[in-house]
This record gives sequence, C-alpha cells and structure tokens, in this order.
Amino acid sequence: MNKTQKYEGLLKKVRSLIEGETDIVAKMATVAAAVHEEMGFFWTGFYRAENGELLIGPFQGPAACIHIPFGKGVCGTSYVQARTIVVPDVEEFPGHIACSSLSRSEIVVPVIKDGRVIAVLDIDSKELATFDEVDARYLEQIVSFISSSGGEDLSNSYDAWM
Ligand code: SME
Repeated sequence: MNKTQKYEGLLKKVRSLIEGETDIVAKMATVAAAVHEEMGFFWTGFYRAENGELLIGPFQGPAACIHIPFGKGVCGTSYVQARTIVVPDVEEFPGHIACSSLSRSEIVVPVIKDGRVIAVLDIDSKELATFDEVDARYLEQIVSFISSSGGEDLSNSYDAWM
C-alpha cells in the first residue's frame, strides 16, 4: 500500500470513528491514536491553545514538552501563521524545539475553527524528509473533522484566550 492508499483508508476510519461526537478532547484523542497506529509515526499529538500558549493535548508516543509559547518552534509558528508547516530536517528549522533527540523530521497542521486556530496537530518522524504535500493534504482533511463534525460549541472550552 502506498501512502495515498493508507491515508484514504485512514480518512474513512477517522470519519466513522468520530462522526457525531461533540467532545473536542475525545475527538483529538481518537484522531491521535488512529493516525499514529495506522501510519506508524514516532510521535503524534495535539497542542491546544489555552491561556495564551500551546498546551499539550491528547497524544501517542513518548512524553513530550508540555508548554510551547505562541510563535516558538514549529508548533508555535504553525499556530501564529495558521498554516501547515513541513520540516524535512528539524535541525534546519530555526528555533525548532527538540522534545526528543530522536525526531528528525516533522509536520504541524493547524486545527481551525470559525477562522481561528484552536490547536495544532504535530507529527514527528525518526527519519529525515518523511512528510510532503500528500501528508499535508490528508492531515488537513483529518483535522477538519475535529472542528466541523458534531456541531459542538467550543466557546466554553476556549474563551480564556479568545
Ligand atoms: N518539535 C516541536 C515541539 C513539539 S514535539 O516535537 C512533540 C516544535 O518545534 O514545535
């Protein structure tokens, strides 16, 4: 199976798993587990925008940094720029935050709800240049299920920083 085929299967799986769910943390936990398991990445997880910083959310893999300032690292940069960032070699990214020395390449995808970034999905690989436009396209679709399906109102969870 090539990467596109794997992602096609993953997309269907994630959609059916979280369809109708309204709790944002439950959905993040389910997405992190499914993506991590199906794709075999080193670290897969969410950082949520809470109280003026990125705070660790549901993840799979080794324990990682808990707090990331907005604008710092790949995650903080993706957050402030509201765009997906693909990093083929983490040593080449200015200000990269090394939660694990084993991480060699990375992708960070913003989770956008009503035009605001509410979280980022961060994925790390132990190999260089793991991620490309295929990952970006599919992961953007997958995270869109978190903010769109279920019709939940996030205003209570996120009003601290809005
Ligand atoms: N490398 C990330 C920090 C998070 S860990 O990779 C899980 C960054 O530079 O933002």
